[in-house]
Amino acid sequence: MILFVNACVRKESGTLFLAQEVLKKYDDEVQTVELQNEKLIPLDRERLELRNELTEKGEFSDDIFRFAKQLAKAERIVIAAPYWDLSFPSLLKIYIELICAMNVTFSYSDEGIPVSHCRAKELVYVTTAGGYIPERNFGFDYIKEVFSGFFGVKTFRYVKAEGLDIYGNDREELLKKTVKEIKND
Ligand SMILES: Cc1cc2nc3c(=O)[nH]c(=O)nc-3n(C[C@H](O)[C@H](O)[C@H](O)COP(=O)(O)O)c2cc1C
Repeated sequence: MILFVNACVRKESGTLFLAQEVLKKYDDEVQTVELQNEKLIPLDRERLELRNELTEKGEFSDDIFRFAKQLAKAERIVIAAPYWDLSFPSLLKIYIELICAMNVTFSYSDEGIPVSHCRAKELVYVTTAGGYIPERNFGFDYIKEVFSGFFGVKTFRYVKAEGLDIYGNDREELLKKTVKEIKND
């Protein structure tokens, strides 16, 4: 199963357009998480306490663990996230809070080292930017740290189109160029 995490917000999203090209390459069931439609709530005090209590009891049937259980089963992950404020939309950060669920997607060894409970070994990160992304994309770098450190992902692919909102640039052509790269990859 491919888990497609869609953090795109705009109706005419170029990032989503590219992610759909990536997904066409795989012949596998796709489960999509539309973050835009999920009415996500950050882990405030009440929800953090609830999660801690349930984790202590080993009760993982509550909806707060839904995304974590789904992630643990995925064989490949595709994330589509536009480049916002030097990283990605906060919807994706809330999703990450929810998937970092101890004893569902990872646990700690006696030495305090995270041990993955997930199957996926590969993640494709798709983004588009209005301007140009510096050498370090804090969003993608953060995703790499979380998914390698907690969830055991080994291979990361980075698909991007940049400069889309710059006056004089041809947005359609820039997107087409990235589609070509996706097809040839
Ligand atoms: C809230 C917001 C923040 C943005 N921040 C940045 C930014 O920091 N740097 C940049 O180059 N473009 C920025 N942009 C422009 C988007 O990266 C660009 O329009 C992107 O292609 C949008 O992707 P989408 O078509 O998938 O929505 C921002 C756009 C929005 C709406």
